[in-house]
Amino acid sequence: MSPADTKITRQELQNLRKQYTKSSLTTSSVHPEPLTQFEKWFNEMLKSGFYEPSAMTLATSSAGGKPTARVVLLKGFDAGGFVFYTNYKSRKGRDIEENPFGCLLFYWDKLERQIRIEGAIEKVTRAESEAYFKSRPYKSRLGAWASKQSSVIPERSEIVKEFLKYMVKFRRDVPLPPVWGGYRLVPDSFEFWQGRPNRLHDRIRYTRQKKGWKIERLAP
Ligand SMILES: Cc1cc2nc3c(=O)[nH]c(=O)nc-3n(C[C@H](O)[C@H](O)[C@H](O)COP(=O)(O)O)c2cc1C
Repeated sequence: MSPADTKITRQELQNLRKQYTKSSLTTSSVHPEPLTQFEKWFNEMLKSGFYEPSAMTLATSSAGGKPTARVVLLKGFDAGGFVFYTNYKSRKGRDIEENPFGCLLFYWDKLERQIRIEGAIEKVTRAESEAYFKSRPYKSRLGAWASKQSSVIPERSEIVKEFLKYMVKFRRDVPLPPVWGGYRLVPDSFEFWQGRPNRLHDRIRYTRQKKGWKIERLAP
């Protein structure tokens, strides 16, 4: 069968819809602390078997207000915020330098759930980046040196060459590259979305107050 035979029609695409019936959310059933609510949902997601359970979408924006998004891996979360690792000179690194705010988005389709987390983004300490970098496999550490993330390269062989160059340079110990490290998004709001029948979904938003969090229901 050629790809043309399998092409979905606009009508078929428009008819792809599901009823969401798995769970529900109310302002009184959620935990007063959004981090605890996140942890509860995260643990339920872990049990339901996702291929890349720590994947999340990170949206950033340039100083000029041009947004973009990409998937990164969540490497830690606690009351201080949500941590991911990357190249500080990448497009996201440049965005964050210009405009240190971002949004994280988790979509867990099996559970009919979405979580949106917004806040300021800061670099983690060098000590924290060092500790995480050391825990990565040798070849992933070399990869961090080899790739000038988000820059244009003529062909794949270019980064393979760089990779081999650093393999010769760092035979055992691979130091933390100066342009590589962690960021922490410090949440000022969380939104938990649970799919419900007839598109009347449940949305519960937490907004950070001087003390504690305000909890509100949003229209779907
Ligand atoms: C499942 C998955 C996990 C990823 N994890 C990371 C990550 O933890 N850090 C990272 O820098 N890029 C990660 N990437 C690659 C990014 O999506 C992106 O291509 C890269 O960071 C460059 O983005 P930028 O040009 O917007 O800076 C991942 C991609 C996928 C699909």
